[in-house]
Amino acid sequence: MTEVVHTPRVFSGIQPSGGLTLGNYLGAIKRFVSMQDSGVETIYCMVDMHAITVWQDPADLRRATRELCAGYIAAGLDPAKSTLFNQSQVSAHAELGWIFSCVARMGWLNRMTQFKDKAGKNRENASVGLFSYPALMAADILVYHATHVPVGEDQKQHIELTRDIAAKFNHDYGVDFFPITEPVIEGEATRVMSLRDGSKKMSKSDPSDKSRINMTDGADAIAQKIRKAKSDADGLPSDADGLKGRTEATNLVNIYAALADMSVDQVLADVGGKQFSEFKPMLADLAVAKLSPISTEMARLMQTPDEIDKILRSGADKARAIADPILAQTLDIVGMVR
Ligand code: TYM
Repeated sequence: MTEVVHTPRVFSGIQPSGGLTLGNYLGAIKRFVSMQDSGVETIYCMVDMHAITVWQDPADLRRATRELCAGYIAAGLDPAKSTLFNQSQVSAHAELGWIFSCVARMGWLNRMTQFKDKAGKNRENASVGLFSYPALMAADILVYHATHVPVGEDQKQHIELTRDIAAKFNHDYGVDFFPITEPVIEGEATRVMSLRDGSKKMSKSDPSDKSRINMTDGADAIAQKIRKAKSDADGLPSDADGLKGRTEATNLVNIYAALADMSVDQVLADVGGKQFSEFKPMLADLAVAKLSPISTEMARLMQTPDEIDKILRSGADKARAIADPILAQTLDIVGMVR
């Protein structure tokens, strides 16, 4: 069998559940923008069907979907260069998701740490969708034959499962149809941690608002959260080795590096020897300078929701033009009469 070479295509998605955090920005959106600007084909989705794996109030879901689209655009994604749309407008995701539910094995899904974290102790009461979610996520990616997926560290296991699903499908049907997608987990902030507890991921679902920076926070809130962020009593080291075992210090330096587009070593060459009392105001100023223009633009875009909906509709048209033929070929391979 000759090996099919897939042209590079980037796909990624974010759930419109709650607001965007600095973790989403540094781990995902900022990197979506650099991939768009590198000239490769980019498709970015608001995964509303993933969001409803846990309860979402309909009005909140609509608002969060539009706000996420506003965040994408405010951060630098351009609907003329990237395909931007919400998942539920392209039914091929759900259809391929079903086929992949029949390819993925129970044992594979049982190992998913995100399910264990999200379902918590009350597994019996979790939705079936929360459990089978990774099959839909694999469909999101593979219905475009995407070759590269920029994500934060926490999504690595799901991309590995996507690769397993593609390989099993290709093997079972004797085809070389789906690409084996590469996760792209790069930069200094692939896992932004809570500002209150360096062992926990920064997350929109953390009950404490002080644990995270929201993309909609104003300058005062950002500065205050950084001033109150947990650090340690030592000064900053002059190289990355000196951060070993210092989770909170590492997190603040990583955030600085990612916001400033510098490496951790470059940052420490500049700030090594300073105390946190001096470093935190520097970090706060940098965060405000980088994030305020985005939140201002988001608020402006949110005043014209019809314009956002138009962008989503036209993005969905472009997405369907790629996804529908790939789904049709999949149905042929599987043996569905059409
Ligand atoms: P979600 O919505 O939880 O997060 C969206 C993106 O933000 C990244 N991220 C972080 N990165 C660094 N530090 C953090 N603290 C942090 N928190 C979140 C996530 O890694 C992710 O890249 N299952 C996905 C959504 C999804 C998807 C897809 C992604 C559905 N289909 C297809 C890629 C391709 C999720 O729940 O991400």
